[in-house]
Amino acid sequence: MSQHYPTIADCVGNTPLVRLQRLAGKTSNTLLLKLEGNNPAGSVKDRPALSMITRAELRGDIQPGDVLIEATSGNTGIALAMAAAIKGYRMILIMPDNSTAERKAAMTAYGAQLILVGSMEEARDLALQMQADGKGKVLDQFANGDNPIAHYTSTGPEIWQQTGGQITHFISSMGTTGTIMGVSHFLKEQKPEVQIVGLQPMEGATIPGIRRWQQEYLPKIYQAERVDRIIDMGQQEAEDVMRRLAREEGIFCGVSSGGSVAAMLRLSQEVENAVMVAIICDRGDRYLSSGVYDAASH
Ligand SMILES: Cc1ncc(COP(=O)(O)O)c(C=O)c1O
Repeated sequence: MSQHYPTIADCVGNTPLVRLQRLAGKTSNTLLLKLEGNNPAGSVKDRPALSMITRAELRGDIQPGDVLIEATSGNTGIALAMAAAIKGYRMILIMPDNSTAERKAAMTAYGAQLILVGSMEEARDLALQMQADGKGKVLDQFANGDNPIAHYTSTGPEIWQQTGGQITHFISSMGTTGTIMGVSHFLKEQKPEVQIVGLQPMEGATIPGIRRWQQEYLPKIYQAERVDRIIDMGQQEAEDVMRRLAREEGIFCGVSSGGSVAAMLRLSQEVENAVMVAIICDRGDRYLSSGVYDAASH
């Protein structure tokens, strides 16, 4: 009988798709947001975190009780901590010691062990050293094909179904690029003319979770041909739209999500009768201590 009830893992994915009501102004376009902050650990990263552990387990690469290691200070760390708790693994997260207190507390709450180091580079080096010393297995979300597969098998099909195949544009900010790779792969198989738009921070802008990758540092999972257009986004514009989303739409999210919606609003000026979907990666609570919500919106 209890088998009829879902587990917490079953609650990852199937997130709502909602339409913008005010920010878009008068337009023939339909502007839709995929609310990934509704995932149990609060971000789009719940999908790849569960996928990377579950698929490694299915291949026989790991088994419950093993130690997993990842260098990450962000949403992935929190999502991996949850996924490891669900699946019965020990999780070691290595991150710079300037990571925000609420993030560290969330990872610890899920039972992960935190190792604090001076920088992200040091974190990555230590993770690999620990793996070489036989202390655990590094998942490496930047090179792990089970990251984009999570979006190919869940996020993409959900968006296709929720728009009844009407989607014309997909917009996502790019960190590991797992989201945009997996969703693009699926959507273009259904409808090759769907426009896939990626977002990167402008030179000098700092937007948590996303990066402006130099060619030689592009994540291994990135395939340039899956992205039709890349938009550079400024920090101010991303933060302004993020605050307006909360105040004018009741949608409370992070800066990278504000950037995606800002890009969607720009694109909306260029086309008519389009159906656009942007990813809202996480919830705004995660950013309160940084003060981004304190500034005036107008
Ligand atoms: C806040 C935030 N936005 C955007 C992204 C980008 O997602 P992806 O890594 O799938 O490109 C991430 C990834 O960590 C993130 O944490």
